[in-house]
Amino acid sequence: MDVFDIVELKPEHCKEVAEIEKTIFSLPWSLQSFRECVEGEDKHYFCAIENGEVIGYCGYWGVLDEAEICNVAVRADARKRGVGKALLNRLIEYGKSDKRTKFLLDVRVGNEAAISLYKKLGFKEDGIRPNFYDEPKEDALLMSLTI
Ligand SMILES: CC(C)(COP(=O)(O)OP(=O)(O)OC[C@H]1O[C@@H](n2cnc3c(N)ncnc32)[C@H](O)[C@@H]1OP(=O)(O)O)[C@@H](O)C(=O)NCCC(=O)NCCS
Repeated sequence: MDVFDIVELKPEHCKEVAEIEKTIFSLPWSLQSFRECVEGEDKHYFCAIENGEVIGYCGYWGVLDEAEICNVAVRADARKRGVGKALLNRLIEYGKSDKRTKFLLDVRVGNEAAISLYKKLGFKEDGIRPNFYDEPKEDALLMSLTI
């Protein structure tokens, strides 16, 4: 069985993360953005490592008692093996220890895989933000988890 570890994102992981990001998103975050996330005081990022390679990542930006989840992604060839769930469980556990009581995120309304994952973790639907995303234009579903 393949095994992966969830670890804090470090500067040396950022290049791989930015490469994965480019393969998944139409408007990818840059390498520089991820580097700034690693260095940011209230930004906490994690990645999944398997056989020495990054296979997924996620992170939040903390503001007061809230954690805004900004990135969640798993490399296409590593999906549906519990990596996304393990990453978010780690993020939530860390967030609790960091005194965050509300986790917030937005997701494209058509992103069934991600919405299903978030619901499985207890996130509730808060509402729709019309035309929030570009390339392609799409509504955002706002979701949150209160501890
Ligand atoms: C969404 C994403 C992170 C899920 O990662 P993953 O490692 O494949 O997810 P997991 O294996 O941990 O799955 C956990 C749950 O998510 C849901 N899920 C995952 N993939 C799914 C799919 N293709 N269709 C429907 N539900 C899915 C299921 O409820 C699953 O639970 P189950 O295994 O009991 O069925 C991954 O598909 C991805 O990187 N997508 C592209 C980037 C993206 O959309 N990010 C979110 C932006 S808001």
